[in-house]
Amino acid sequence: MFSLKSTKDELDRIVELAKRRGFFWPSFSVYGGVSGFYDYGPLGVLLRDNIIKIWKEKILSIGGIFIDTPNISPEEVFQASGHLERFYDLAAVCASCGSKFKVETLLQDNGIDESRYGEFTTAESLNENNIRCPRCGSKFRETTNLSLMFELLSRYGDRGNLYLRPETAQGVFVNFRNLLNFNRDKLPIIAAQLGKGFRNEIAPRQALLRLREFYMGEVEVYLSNDQNFQPESKMKLKLLPRDGVTRFLSPASAVQQKIIRDPNMAYFIEIVYQILLDVGISPERIRFRQHREDELSHYSSDCWDAEVTISGEWVEVVGVADRGTYDLTRHQKYSGFDLTSKDRQGKKFIPRVIEPSFGFDRILLASMISSYSERKKGYKVLSLPKRVSPYSAAILPLLRKDGLREWALNLYSKYKRVDPYATFDESGSIGRRYARQDEIGTPYCVTVDYDTLNNGTVTVRDRDSTKQIRIKSEILLRDGGILTASKEFDFTG
Ligand code: ATP
Ligand code: GLY
Repeated sequence: MFSLKSTKDELDRIVELAKRRGFFWPSFSVYGGVSGFYDYGPLGVLLRDNIIKIWKEKILSIGGIFIDTPNISPEEVFQASGHLERFYDLAAVCASCGSKFKVETLLQDNGIDESRYGEFTTAESLNENNIRCPRCGSKFRETTNLSLMFELLSRYGDRGNLYLRPETAQGVFVNFRNLLNFNRDKLPIIAAQLGKGFRNEIAPRQALLRLREFYMGEVEVYLSNDQNFQPESKMKLKLLPRDGVTRFLSPASAVQQKIIRDPNMAYFIEIVYQILLDVGISPERIRFRQHREDELSHYSSDCWDAEVTISGEWVEVVGVADRGTYDLTRHQKYSGFDLTSKDRQGKKFIPRVIEPSFGFDRILLASMISSYSERKKGYKVLSLPKRVSPYSAAILPLLRKDGLREWALNLYSKYKRVDPYATFDESGSIGRRYARQDEIGTPYCVTVDYDTLNNGTVTVRDRDSTKQIRIKSEILLRDGGILTASKEFDFTG
């Protein structure tokens, strides 16, 4: 683990950069803000969409399909799913000021190992361990369960209330029959949904890490009764199973050694790992931790979280849960609708479900933090993967005079037709402009200078090595733009 002190500011640094450069910032700030809500700015929208595209293409590449269902659902759905009854956080209530705090957070902030959570479910044990109200310093009166569900005021006829969904998964479960029809009755089905999840968190904090409204990408994998998925790659991952002993193993070896119980889980852990690497999170920051018995959600029998170190703490960014037959069984029971499939012998069964559940806001933050470094004199660089960076290239005139500006603008307008993800910058010295682009992760700066006027060549500067090459400007205007052309660039000279 990173030491808490040395990296304490890495989150703050990115939050500052994000706000200043237009990635994200707190919502409704003109009215004083509301905690737990963040806006994405122009660069954040591009970055987030690029990350989601990588996720989507990976899911497609393994045969996945996508659906899109409402954010609002009727009460029946969450009665069946168990969320109305059991989706809550334990909060401690201050005896003096009445403020409520999530018990898990109180333990974290007091440096108490969360595996001791069970001991701290009462106010007495918090008080005995000298844990006090962070707001006024008093003891706690009681602990209580606070629902995370957002209930809407508008009713749904006489059939109860409407709720904002706390996860996108239920929309995929209630559609099982439609998905099975679409897939001509064949399993397995990898059905994913991208969308917002809403949770009335007790203590939203740390920018994008704990929001009340956040982007989820949930993948419900309906398994057949036969062999389904097997992990393939030799890549070694850091695994922390329930026995508390860290191992570095490939998912396939972890199955052989019975560290990961089920090959299907191991396969999806591998897929999650590849996605996290592809969006720019460095392998040293990633581990997969198995849930303790007492932290499993009401619907899961096993769960491995992909966690990333941020400011010295391990933060869950993806959960890979074994939801078994829980959800389909409950929806079948509550709706009376047949949610079974048939095996080869024609016998009905309810399929088991494995669920990798991605949180894109946390992944985006982790990718920015992981890509951040400083050069001499404090120049900041975001070495995001090229496919992830908001802009693919910046087109810059060396100076505004002598026709350089017009030449660069003309190139820019032509370039945008092959690759719309380019930007133009003409203000300030060329050095300042390079620094500005490095800070937002633009992989290439294309500069129009006096040689360009003579022979049509431009310089291309590489963000990571800061080296430059000179190429004919037409090369940039081929299909695919600079990201394709760059496969032939050599910055080692
Ligand atoms: P935590 O224990 O941190 O509250 P969780 O176990 O409730 O998270 P899941 O229910 O597994 O999280 O949700 C799947 C993913 O959604 C998480 O891995 C995370 O990336 C994201 N997520 C969950 N809650 C939030 C939140 N309040 N703000 C931002 N992202 C979230
Ligand atoms: N779908 C996992 C969760 O949101 O709890």
